[in-house]
Amino acid sequence: MASAATGAAPGKVILFGEHAVVHGRPAVAAAIGRGLGAVAEPDPNGPVLHIPAWGRAGLHVKLHKDHKEFDAIARAFDAALKAAGLDAPPVAITLDGELPPGVGLGSSAAFAVALLRVLGDFRGRPFPEDELLAAAWQVETVFHGTPSGLDHTVVTLGGCLRFQRQDPPRLDRVPLGRAVPLVVAWAPREGNTRELVARLRERREAHPALYDRLFDGIGEVTEAGIGALGEGDLETLGVLFDLNHGYLNACGVSSLANEQMVSLARRHGALGAKLTGAGGGGAVIALTPEDPQRVVDALIGAGFRAFSTTIEG
Ligand code: PMV
Repeated sequence: MASAATGAAPGKVILFGEHAVVHGRPAVAAAIGRGLGAVAEPDPNGPVLHIPAWGRAGLHVKLHKDHKEFDAIARAFDAALKAAGLDAPPVAITLDGELPPGVGLGSSAAFAVALLRVLGDFRGRPFPEDELLAAAWQVETVFHGTPSGLDHTVVTLGGCLRFQRQDPPRLDRVPLGRAVPLVVAWAPREGNTRELVARLRERREAHPALYDRLFDGIGEVTEAGIGALGEGDLETLGVLFDLNHGYLNACGVSSLANEQMVSLARRHGALGAKLTGAGGGGAVIALTPEDPQRVVDALIGAGFRAFSTTIEG
């Protein structure tokens, strides 16, 4: 067993197709340059997990064998230990990074993958990719119930991927004609992914024809987006971001904060903007080939959090 093990995983943005992906349409997601890193060190009081960047005083989870009332993070930690075949190992894990939790930037998937990677390193047998994907899925379901699988897949494999929920899921790399410059901004969420997905499912069940038409529209925008990404056609990509956002608004998953961030980004020079992830607040992405700092400043000036990043092929 190694004495100090490490692991890491990036966050992600969904460029096209969130929510519709749950209903069988394709989506495109990409890894971003912010993520989580993990270090594991021997600790006789383990297993313990520290996440100094989350929560006001940092987040600290100690697993007790007889502890029944686990919260989601503790249950996910427990699921990761089980997936690694480790029963109450004497280890302290610190997960750290600049990925805000719970806003749609893949924090739970990055949590799962960074944690599994560090545990794989700690036990002296890194997870092969297929086992890592399967284990990350198990940890993700603790947070999200029945996620489409998009998040942990892109966070594990990196790059830019087209994903379609099938059995097994269909995965294709999306070639990029040029790097995609984005501003990512976020606000606190009003609901969580599980609730937002469930609410949309109920709406769809009440009005299947109407919602299936919206999901088909999102699917078409996603396929057009893959074309624009391949050609490096940022003007068209911006139009498609706006279209995708309009559909998500029609699905009822946008919020006042999402609308404000999207409008501000467009007004300050973004070629297009959309919410990313489940919505209900949380993150938006704006396409900013020129002066991303102007968009970042406008969003921060309005009380939101924001940074610029680039999606590479
Ligand atoms: O949890 P988030 O905000 O990254 O959103 C996940 C994307 C959804 O399509 C809304 C749900 C899913 O499982 O794909």
